Amino acid sequence: MNKDDIDFDENCDPSNPRKIKYDDILAASRRIVGAVCRTSCSRAHMSDKLGMELYLKQEFLQHTGSFKERGVRNALMMLSEDQKKAGAIAATTGNHGMALAFHATALGIPCVVVMPQRAPLVKVNKCEVYGAKLILYGNNILEARHHALGIAKEKKMAYINGFDHPNVIEGQGSVGIEIIEQLPQVDAVLVPVGGGSLIAGIGVAIKHLKPDTEIYGIQTDKTNSMVEALRKNERVFVAIDSTIADGLAVQMVGVNAFHTAKGIIDKMVVVKEDWVARAVMHIVEEERFVVEGAGAVCVAACMAGLFPNFYYGQKVVCILSGGNIDTTILARALERGMAAEGRLVKFKVTVSDRPGGMAELCSLLSSVGVTLRDCIPERAWVKGDVFSCELKIIAETRGWDHTKDLIESVKKNYKEYYFQDMGDQKDKGPTARRGPCLAPNPVCMQK
Ligand SMILES: Cc1ncc(COP(=O)(O)O)c(C=O)c1O
Repeated sequence: MNKDDIDFDENCDPSNPRKIKYDDILAASRRIVGAVCRTSCSRAHMSDKLGMELYLKQEFLQHTGSFKERGVRNALMMLSEDQKKAGAIAATTGNHGMALAFHATALGIPCVVVMPQRAPLVKVNKCEVYGAKLILYGNNILEARHHALGIAKEKKMAYINGFDHPNVIEGQGSVGIEIIEQLPQVDAVLVPVGGGSLIAGIGVAIKHLKPDTEIYGIQTDKTNSMVEALRKNERVFVAIDSTIADGLAVQMVGVNAFHTAKGIIDKMVVVKEDWVARAVMHIVEEERFVVEGAGAVCVAACMAGLFPNFYYGQKVVCILSGGNIDTTILARALERGMAAEGRLVKFKVTVSDRPGGMAELCSLLSSVGVTLRDCIPERAWVKGDVFSCELKIIAETRGWDHTKDLIESVKKNYKEYYFQDMGDQKDKGPTARRGPCLAPNPVCMQK
């Protein structure tokens, strides 16, 4: 790509990749003190269940709901006076945009945020609230980026890549310095990976301060651009469709982020998205934290048993990187999580359509302690006589064992019923597993 090309970004130049240094991360962490939160890193209630000393670094508590403020604040403070006057611009799927809007406004720097048209609503709205000029453009981040770089060149604005600008990576690295200060004996740190700035920054800081700490990158089966880049030892384009972890939806990892992170990541781990929904639910239920999909992937990987190499007493930090989840998506994640754990059950049963027929079913549900959530009657396409009615039921139970009790009661009392095959579901709960880590370096895929 030549320098006159619209898509050329001088700070992220593939022919001149930069390796981020610890000293610059330390300087960044001092520069942003007071402007971003020093978030807590507390022991998780889920520790015992997962069989490790699990600590949660609560980056969702930043003012705009994610760690992105760290990198943005540092990058904005590093602009020259002329650049500050001309303003800053970025393309983003959300969290970087909110952070940019908030900190640019706080520093009196004009700013423009370009988002793909399908960006999450909560993030779109907040960018404007925080004071950015918002442009919705394109179907994905690459199209939005092309548009934003065009504006940057025309208006001489500073383009701040949210996952690859060197000053951004340095700012994200401050999370690593805090972790070592808060938990000096840390054994492993699990980091969600999108474009790679967070793992690059944290990795450099932690490997400098405590080199024997293991650094794991976590992606989902639908957002695995770093996994593919490490496999091929070069940045590759990975198509990404819709994902519950929209913060990780980056088709190609950053130039500087990859160059910095590739020698530091001990292993990449890929978790399936249904585990991410379950993690969102468990983090709400057990820790009382609301995190978005991208923020839950590390806990999801632990719950899915992808770290059988972690043992009791080992200190493991998961970064809860963001909390900006649309309420509708949160509701869906909770439903999916409940369904995946057998706590939401769907079945059909044919009952008498005479007075009292439905009431009988309700008393049966109540006698086994199951809550009726939804009931749709079907009278036309029913096999039984004209006085029967098929009910499609959705019910809440306490889990697989309770669901089995429900199935037994329905079987005893009705002739026609249909439950989906539960298979070996009962064994798939989050448990502590022990053994060697699942696959050779650098990539570990969930089977
Ligand atoms: C909540 C959240 N977690 C993790 C990430 C991944 O960070 P990075 O792109 O630096 O790898 C992002 C990126 O936007 C994010 O918003």
